[in-house]
Amino acid sequence: MYASEEDWREVDAYFVDTLVPEDEALIEARESGRRTTMPQAEVAPNQGKLLAMLCHIAGATRVLEFGTLAGYSTVWLARAVGEKGRVTSLELEEHNAAIARMNLERAGVADRVDVLVGPAADSAHRLIEDGAEPYDFVFIDADKPSNPEYLRAALALTHPGSVIVIDNVVRNGAVTDPDSPDDRVQGVRTVLADIAQDARLEATALQTVGSKGWDGFTIIRRAH
Ligand code: DHB
Ligand code: MG
Repeated sequence: MYASEEDWREVDAYFVDTLVPEDEALIEARESGRRTTMPQAEVAPNQGKLLAMLCHIAGATRVLEFGTLAGYSTVWLARAVGEKGRVTSLELEEHNAAIARMNLERAGVADRVDVLVGPAADSAHRLIEDGAEPYDFVFIDADKPSNPEYLRAALALTHPGSVIVIDNVVRNGAVTDPDSPDDRVQGVRTVLADIAQDARLEATALQTVGSKGWDGFTIIRRAH
């Protein structure tokens, strides 16, 4: 018997109620996602906390994020790195970045976050050219066709031991179709193939169900 999406949502609500309290700032960041150019694309609360916990486990104090939107995951990441940490978050749209900056202010973490506006690949290449100090944790959650380019940039901006997480790798199951005409599917398939053939990288992928439907993450550890 397969559970329904409603069941997945109920279980997520129970887990979140039990284990993942959100303060006003997180609630507002999540709800203001509706005013961005990609409503409701932010991670679920229990996923945001997973990102924060991975940062804690990895001892991350420098985080790079591809795709800010309203800054919901950014707030989780910025709190995880602590007062002395830094988060750099890359966002295409000034409209979204303005919403994110307000949410970061409200969350009390604006002073430790830089939201860089413009195509994320351009911003990332500028960080590389400027010799940015390596990041300990990278969250790739922007336009999916660019995943392979974002991973290449992430590898130029990390060190052995860094952790990289890529969101939305299931594409409603279409990820298994090598002939998919969907360039988002191909962006996921190509980045997974790139990861698999890169001897520096140890990786797995997990399917998730819950308030965000059926989706999943790839989790990568840069060993060398
Ligand atoms: C999409 C992108 C996301 O980052 C997400 O979390 C959900 C959906 C999308 O491109 O449809
Ligand atoms: Mg996403």
